[in-house]
Amino acid sequence: MSRIHEALKRAEQDRAAAQGVHVETAQTPTQPALAGVPSPISTVPSLPNQLTYETLLSRCVPCTWSPDTKTMLFYNSEQGPGTEEFRTLRSRLYQMREKQPLKKVLVTSSLPKEGKSFVAANLAQAMVRQHGRRVLLIDADLRAARLHLALGTALTPGLSEYLLGEADEFGIMQRGAMENLFFIPAGRSTSNPAELVANGRLKVLLNRVESLFDWIVIDSPPAVPVSDAGLMSNHCDGVLMVVRSTATPSDVARKARAEFDDKLLLGVVLNGMKHDPAEYRRYYGAYGKDVSR
Ligand SMILES: Nc1ncnc2c1ncn2[C@@H]1O[C@H](COP(=O)(O)OP(=O)(O)O)[C@@H](O)[C@H]1O
Ligand SMILES: [Mg+2]
Repeated sequence: MSRIHEALKRAEQDRAAAQGVHVETAQTPTQPALAGVPSPISTVPSLPNQLTYETLLSRCVPCTWSPDTKTMLFYNSEQGPGTEEFRTLRSRLYQMREKQPLKKVLVTSSLPKEGKSFVAANLAQAMVRQHGRRVLLIDADLRAARLHLALGTALTPGLSEYLLGEADEFGIMQRGAMENLFFIPAGRSTSNPAELVANGRLKVLLNRVESLFDWIVIDSPPAVPVSDAGLMSNHCDGVLMVVRSTATPSDVARKARAEFDDKLLLGVVLNGMKHDPAEYRRYYGAYGKDVSR
């Protein structure tokens, strides 16, 4: 290592020490990665100007969550109705991640009430159940915020405060009782959500925090009536489209699908199937990119 590099590194460590921030160095021992399993991000050395996990832990907002157990399926039981389907969905995403960069997943649908928030919340829970996986769940439905109700926590400060430039990423990120799950609520409602999500700060937020998480799950507004989800997808690696069984008209689902780049569409989640094993087998069979066409 050159003397200039050493001096720069020392200066960086001194500055961090003065701020009470832990800076990992390139000498930080890394754990061996399991075959086919991405290494936990806690082993990734931090770069200058990049947040560290320790900084996040010390500065995010500790909260007492009181989850709604009807929506948060994993909260009381790992084996309750629906949990297996979310584990399957998680596995499919891991399989896709072997073939393409995939961390920031936007969950959307054509219309309201199809189960976007339900799917986002439970997918995040399924992901965080895997040992060492850190997940950030973001409520980016600035028009009909719901995830704070599912988690039983405060709506503000949240994403809208960040997009308005009134808060930084630590001030809006909550940490509750579920280890490794972090949550950004939607924040206060505003009169101009489409302009806010297009103002460039969402991209900045995602860029700043993505190295801290294994997955970032973003709940969004419906894609047909408003443009927000299409705009947000530009900053994501993939889009999951929720279709409510027997409720979403097929022409409307096709219209929503057309809002997203083909390359971004990961697949369709058929939500609300009857709890019947035969039906579930159909669900497994139906999940995949092609059913959206
Ligand atoms: N598969 C499901 N099983 C049980 N309740 C569901 C299911 N999907 C959605 N819900 C419930 O239906 C309502 C609407 O779902 P929500 O996720 O808020 O829709 P969206 O986000 O698309 O507007 C919520 O009360 C949610 O908890
Ligand atoms: Mg919703």
